Amino acid sequence: MSEDGQGRVAIVTGAAGTMGMAAAKRLAADNYKVALLDIAADRLSAVAKDLKGSLAIAGDISQPEKVNAAVGEVESKLGPASVLVNNAGILSNNKSAETTPEEWRRVIGVNLDAAFYLARAVLPGMKQRRYGRIVNVCSLAMKTGGLTAGTAYTTSKSAIGGLTFSLAREVAPFGVTVNGIAPAYVKTPMVSEQLTEAQRQALLAQIPVGRFCEPEEFAHCVAFLVSPMSGFITGEILDINGGLHFD
Ligand SMILES: NC(=O)c1ccc[n+]([C@@H]2O[C@H](COP(=O)([O-])OP(=O)(O)OC[C@H]3O[C@@H](n4cnc5c(N)ncnc54)[C@H](O)[C@@H]3O)[C@@H](O)[C@H]2O)c1
Repeated sequence: MSEDGQGRVAIVTGAAGTMGMAAAKRLAADNYKVALLDIAADRLSAVAKDLKGSLAIAGDISQPEKVNAAVGEVESKLGPASVLVNNAGILSNNKSAETTPEEWRRVIGVNLDAAFYLARAVLPGMKQRRYGRIVNVCSLAMKTGGLTAGTAYTTSKSAIGGLTFSLAREVAPFGVTVNGIAPAYVKTPMVSEQLTEAQRQALLAQIPVGRFCEPEEFAHCVAFLVSPMSGFITGEILDINGGLHFD
């Protein structure tokens, strides 16, 4: 455990999911006050019970008014946010021919729009206080065109990369950094349930470290990028893919 967080407030979206929960636990251990956002109310309250001092807010973050209300609640109950981890996401493996307009909108709404709405809500305060850290969860799919991921997902992750670069440039002079993490094949339901056994074996054969990523390894990357130690890093997309892809 480190004391990096100094009691600062961190918002983690998708906190009821595997990676979001790992990140939230790590930030709580690092002495952040953590606000947990997720649409899955039951799973979210179970996570919150385990994290003393955390605040759980259930709702659909692809809706801008829900985001504004959630950020207002965080501010009034925990204090102004210094850290935002845009982690919520939904996977779709459909390629373009099978992707309906509804699916396209839903995936872009959760994976991209929500990150923009949240950043837009917290950035004025971060800029004013001249300190902030935003981490956007991208994906290897943005760099490969999606090995197994579909068109809407891959596009959403490329776009959140673009959002990362744009925001990083905009807010760098204010002591706020904006970075991304591009994971691949973390041990989550996305890997265990949405890929076939044949796909998993084929991937393992291609990943040089010979295994899938532990959620805690993702949480370590988040902890570093949101810490005061990373102040000279902005507009970076950190790969965490076991050597599957170099660039
Ligand atoms: N699992 C992987 O291998 C992998 C690889 C690359 C990137 N990622 C990305 O990492 C992030 C976390 O993935 P995970 O595997 O932990 O997924 P997960 O499904 O376990 O967690 C995602 C969470 O987001 C929440 N969510 C979905 N829609 C929402 C909405 N509209 N409003 C609020 N919350 C919503 C879900 O309820 C869920 O708890 C995602 O952005 C995903 O795209 C995952």
